[in-house]
Amino acid sequence: MEKRRLAVISNRLPIVLKKEQRGKWQIEPGSGGLVTALGPVLKNRDGIWIGWMGTNAEEEPAGPLLEDLIRRGTRETGYSLKPVHLTKEEVNKYYHGFSNEILWPLFHDLFSRCNFDLSYWPFYEQVNRKFAQAVVSNTDENDYVWVQDYQLILVGRELKRLGLKRQTGYFLHIPFPPLDIFLKLPWRFEILEALMEYDLVGFQTVRDLRNFVGCVRALFNYKVAKEKFMNRILRPDGEVLVGAFPISIDYREFEDLARTGEVAEMAWSIHENLPNRQLVLGVDRLDYTKGIPHRLLAFAHALECYPDMRRKVTLIQVVVPSRVDVEEYGNLKQEIERIVGEINGRFTEVGWTPIHYIYRSLPRQELVAYYKTCEIALVTPLKDGMNLIAKEYCASNIEEKGILILSEFAGAASQLHRDALLVNPYDRQRMADTIHAALRMQDDERQARMRRLRRFIKRHDIINWVNSFLHAGIARNLGDFPQAEF
Ligand code: G6P
Repeated sequence: MEKRRLAVISNRLPIVLKKEQRGKWQIEPGSGGLVTALGPVLKNRDGIWIGWMGTNAEEEPAGPLLEDLIRRGTRETGYSLKPVHLTKEEVNKYYHGFSNEILWPLFHDLFSRCNFDLSYWPFYEQVNRKFAQAVVSNTDENDYVWVQDYQLILVGRELKRLGLKRQTGYFLHIPFPPLDIFLKLPWRFEILEALMEYDLVGFQTVRDLRNFVGCVRALFNYKVAKEKFMNRILRPDGEVLVGAFPISIDYREFEDLARTGEVAEMAWSIHENLPNRQLVLGVDRLDYTKGIPHRLLAFAHALECYPDMRRKVTLIQVVVPSRVDVEEYGNLKQEIERIVGEINGRFTEVGWTPIHYIYRSLPRQELVAYYKTCEIALVTPLKDGMNLIAKEYCASNIEEKGILILSEFAGAASQLHRDALLVNPYDRQRMADTIHAALRMQDDERQARMRRLRRFIKRHDIINWVNSFLHAGIARNLGDFPQAEF
């Protein structure tokens, strides 16, 4: 395949701008799966990344200082960074508002959490136009423009309105909801029509793809031609390819890190400080879609039903701060801390605390040490596009003794269902039973399952994901899709 320059457009740049307490501006690496996912690919393709730096334009540092910080970011990441500046009002209404109070809950099937505030839509349009303008100024006709996620659905439409010809692809990282839920969106026609302005639209799973095609059929009545791995939607003025491309991780990076002496030492020290017990790990961004309270309560229920687990099991729950300015997220933090306090208050004995709760982002090495050493990972979102924690855990679990307990509502379940233990996060009893069964699973079965999981993820890694998408997007080759194994 010809090697074209790649322009990635996402809400966030892979760096964030932060003001230190002494007033000095700094850049820090951003969080989230996308940074991990696309960094290596952009480095190899002399790529450029267009996005927002997480600050309000009114508060950003002066021009030359900002340029200097961005140059530093470019040096550190190894590809070119182009910031889009957003005013405070734009951040509030486009990001907190339309993206996170409407699209995020609706697409995660949590309609009752939506706030259909009418003032958000014009800002969503305005900011998507700003991103499109940044694409115009920073790319040329030969570049492949790859737009990411729910915050930027309208960029393809805005590029066309600006009269620009670029080959475009779009990937939705979160689930696409079924028709009955999507229909509730007041801007359902605009959103669906805008998605069809791209040349290729990718979803995480076949289920998301089917949901999308179902909505297109119901709302537009366009013909859909089925190919082996993809669909073509035939609009009156052209066609759009749609397919499922389950995202993945840089497998080798996790495995290599897990093999280092530093990680081995950290892993040893984690177990040394929690002697004679199996460790169960939860790692999540603070978000109501992750089902953290449900998981904690299921763990407590397991302790209740199976007293043999007491003193022998500890749950380490890492919660990474996220969207801290949104009230609902603040409330969730309080709820989680109340539940952890109650469970620990109820079960703690001398020398044993059932839940270790960590509320901060962990350095990569430390995270991998937990992945490597914890006997069980509990990845139980209520709904999730993919969930890369599930894959990172397996890649780092080099001794192949770990067990992955995975929600059937995570996109990852469509690929890992054979060897993970699947659970319904709303079913507290079955979750408790599954945790207990996992703790008693024989070593040879653990190993066989983990080995297969690792082999699958190694074959379907991030490089494979990017290649599949670009193969379909640039070469428009619908033939052999290495990702399409479900
Ligand atoms: C999810 C979304 C990403 C987003 C990330 C972090 O993974 O799919 O688009 O970047 O959450 O959320 P934030 O709102 O902090 O960018």
